[in-house]
Amino acid sequence: MIRIGMLGFGTVGRSVYDLLQAHTERFPDMQIVSVAVRQITEQRMTLYPTVQFTTNPDTIVTASDIDVVIEVMGGQTETYRYLRRALHSGKHVITANKDLIATYGETLQKIASAHQLALLYGASVAGGIPILDALTNLLPGDETMQVGGIINGTSNFILTQMSDAAMNYDDALALAQRMGIAEANPVNDVAGFDARYKLAILAKTAFGANVVTTQIPTQGIQEINATVLDEAKRLGYVIKPLAVARRTGQELAMTVGPHLVPAAHLLGKIDNVQNAVQVKTRNIQDLVFTGPGAGRRQADCKCGIVRSCDCS
Ligand code: HSE
Repeated sequence: MIRIGMLGFGTVGRSVYDLLQAHTERFPDMQIVSVAVRQITEQRMTLYPTVQFTTNPDTIVTASDIDVVIEVMGGQTETYRYLRRALHSGKHVITANKDLIATYGETLQKIASAHQLALLYGASVAGGIPILDALTNLLPGDETMQVGGIINGTSNFILTQMSDAAMNYDDALALAQRMGIAEANPVNDVAGFDARYKLAILAKTAFGANVVTTQIPTQGIQEINATVLDEAKRLGYVIKPLAVARRTGQELAMTVGPHLVPAAHLLGKIDNVQNAVQVKTRNIQDLVFTGPGAGRRQADCKCGIVRSCDCS
């Protein structure tokens, strides 16, 4: 039996738990035995009777009977300490935390390798799109020249709702928060910080570059208003939140911010929480990966309108 301890139990954590429960035939030897949460409630204990809840992540990362730690609590410095401790205690680590991987990924990877443990973070960029695996494995013998696209679902959702449903910025952001797609601090999404963490991870994976995230020129979507969106539309464009890393020789140019994209372009048709990562390589030239980049399992959307699901 592989015994899993989870740090955090929000939108993503509960989805992971539900998936494992729904597919016990595929994962017969995996069990989430303990979960660290901020607050232990009666409701939680009733809904998840086989889970041991704790408010102290340390008990999970140091427990002798836990083999794998799944981190979905978010945060950086403190979370980094927990994951360090987990690796030093001999546990494999799985995390979707882009802030943490963009900042401490290199150090955590060294600790994991020294202990012959896995550090997996495939879901940290573009959610449901296996883009890091693709960049690592899909193109042997080829050379990536550019990687990037729409990698923040919340910003894309807000701009889509403002442009197509005439929703105002505040209402669209509030809806994104209710849907569980925005970060705990939504400034990370709308100011472009979430995208630049993800871009740094993409650049590390594609080019082996160690990027200091604060050095990436970054612009948010807060200044975009209905007038700008309408004017773009009149000219045949849409405004999309793009994050792009381009290599020229030894130089790497990176940028995050809203851009005009022709409405007919593939990226112009990527709406709401959908993400799209475009990879340009020397030989294959153009690949585009699209899929849901934020929130829970799309099949859980009970109202059936995944593209603007508000059934949280
Ligand atoms: N807040 C993120 C987004 C969640 O909107 O893309 C997935 O990383």
